[in-house]
Amino acid sequence: MPSSGFIAHIDALKTNNCRSIVLCSGKGGVGKTTLTANLGVALAKLGHKTCVVDADYGLRNLDLLLGLESRIVFTAQEVISGSCRLGQALVKHKHEANLMLMPAGNPRMMDWFNPEHMQNLITMLADSFDFILIDAPAGVEDGFKNAVAGASEAILVVNPEISSVRDADRVAGLLSSQGTVDLIQLVINRVRPRMVEKLDMMSIEDVLDILAVPLLGVVQEDEQVIISSNLGEPLALGKYKSPAGVAYGNIARRIQGEEIPISDINKPAGFIDRLGDFLSTRII
Ligand SMILES: Nc1ncnc2c1ncn2[C@@H]1O[C@H](COP(=O)(O)OP(=O)(O)O)[C@@H](O)[C@H]1O
Ligand SMILES: [Mg+2]
Repeated sequence: MPSSGFIAHIDALKTNNCRSIVLCSGKGGVGKTTLTANLGVALAKLGHKTCVVDADYGLRNLDLLLGLESRIVFTAQEVISGSCRLGQALVKHKHEANLMLMPAGNPRMMDWFNPEHMQNLITMLADSFDFILIDAPAGVEDGFKNAVAGASEAILVVNPEISSVRDADRVAGLLSSQGTVDLIQLVINRVRPRMVEKLDMMSIEDVLDILAVPLLGVVQEDEQVIISSNLGEPLALGKYKSPAGVAYGNIARRIQGEEIPISDINKPAGFIDRLGDFLSTRII
């Protein structure tokens, strides 16, 4: 159960009872879009009405990862320009009725879209959803500033690599100085326990020593993430059992306030554990 302090803090962050969370990183390719898709599914499975917003107008991958690319008719672009209603642009997920996608318009949106447009879009969405997850582009320029403008919380995604951690540190500084985001939490993605054990990769503690941001979760390197992304079926749907799928579910439960301990992912699984993982990988 969430503590009363947590509930009071989170209540203060809500707009119309909705929490809007931006996923950002500074560095590209660390797993923001993958995490957005999976947390969207996981929060929807927990019963929350959830909207994932593609704010990466240059690359636009969120529709692909959710397997919704062929269902897009209108986008945020038509909503903002007033040529369609909000509900006409939202795309419902095939399997999770609680999950909707707000697709990105064409890359020319980058030329005119501004923070006020994003705030308007999120205010419109906040009436209908419990959670809005905003997938930010890489970098700290205009696209990032637009994505952040709609959020009162941020999830900083990092890989245990020095360049990723340094970029995330810069983003954390920008978010704090900007003052619009009140809660920043960290997800460390693509951790490889065997490399950590051999001291070839930064450990969770190493990352936390550099970034003074509270840890929300850890996702290990998992080839099922790549396979499921290619199929447009996020692991969090639960079709395949895998360590990353479990991690996404746990992060979603922590977001809703449950106290789920973060397991010691630095420790590689023993042979018996790995055999168990192998035998139970496909559960359909
Ligand atoms: N935990 C993980 N294990 C293995 N591959 C991952 C993991 N998380 C993300 N990836 C892969 O990393 C690549 C970049 O992910 P993506 O979500 O597109 O990053 P970003 O949005 O930050 O640019 C993709 O190929 C994705 O499948
Ligand atoms: Mg992305």
